[in-house]
Amino acid sequence: MKVVKIALLGFGTVSQGAFNLLKDNYELITNRTNVDVQVTKIFVRNPDKYSHITLPAHTTYVTDVNDVLQDDSIDMVVELMGGTTFAKDCVEQALKSGKNVVTANKDLMAEAGPYLLDLASKNNVDLRFEASVLGGIPIIRTLYDSLGGNKITELVGIMNGTTNFILSKMTDEGLGYEEVLKEAQELGYAEADPTADVEGLDAARKLAILASISFNRRIFFEDVTVEGITKIDKTDIAYGKDFGYNIKLLGIAKETNKGLSLNVYPAFVPIQHPLAAVRGSYNAIYIKGNGIDDAMFYGRGAGSLPTGSSVVSDIMEVAKNIDYNATGRLKPFYFDQKNIYAPGK
Ligand code: HSE
Repeated sequence: MKVVKIALLGFGTVSQGAFNLLKDNYELITNRTNVDVQVTKIFVRNPDKYSHITLPAHTTYVTDVNDVLQDDSIDMVVELMGGTTFAKDCVEQALKSGKNVVTANKDLMAEAGPYLLDLASKNNVDLRFEASVLGGIPIIRTLYDSLGGNKITELVGIMNGTTNFILSKMTDEGLGYEEVLKEAQELGYAEADPTADVEGLDAARKLAILASISFNRRIFFEDVTVEGITKIDKTDIAYGKDFGYNIKLLGIAKETNKGLSLNVYPAFVPIQHPLAAVRGSYNAIYIKGNGIDDAMFYGRGAGSLPTGSSVVSDIMEVAKNIDYNATGRLKPFYFDQKNIYAPGK
């Protein structure tokens, strides 16, 4: 059986979730891929921080990223550090040196996704990013693959768990914005600096990635008009309820006769609509296509194991393709479809 060696860059929440799934589900992952996926290196700044975690004999910590990027035995780099500077350098270098890359980095993909996908293609390697949006909801490959035969006309989603938690609590318990935000921070949903969540920037980055795939064009974060939830108060929520609406922070991409409109804003959603029932920190995406009519995907948009699950699914796909390439059976998935992502460029 082919051994595929991978390196994790970063060992935070998502990385540990992916690592644990690879370890705990080793047998079924091996059976499903027919590949022996081994994490051989984990790049961290300070290994002492992780001394409580037992590593398998074939896994070591490295503190110099070049020990990963210049190691010819590594087939796949899994970037789970976040950020757009050092992470981008690492991903670029990995791709240029012929390594496949899996990333969960939404900011990086929203900012430089089209460039990095081109780079991957030029270097004949694969770049996957299922975990970059909506945590455990399998949406990227669904759009590329399962819904690939549809002309998507509309994509509407609750793409940020923190704001959905806040708005749900305000709706269900009649609480004010500030007190629920505090609770969201205490529960670890919102960051200490929750700006990206509550101002809608996080949702806009996710929308840019999803709309790029759904509408076959290059869309960047800057193309999305954004309004957050900071101005929503108890009265807005109460008025909505009186008239049969729940307020939700929606990301909306829609074909119009003036072109594609891309917006994130708090909207009144009729309570009969399935998105109105999405509560707490959950995410959901509602899609209209000319084949499927409509479909909705619902699940946990963040968290160690849900997001780790998406990372592992990418690792498995890339591992299978590395194996197939070695035996000449199948070309990497995104090569065949790169024009779907970025036509005419
Ligand atoms: N802060 C994000 C959210 C986490 O609340 O949805 C996942 O991107």
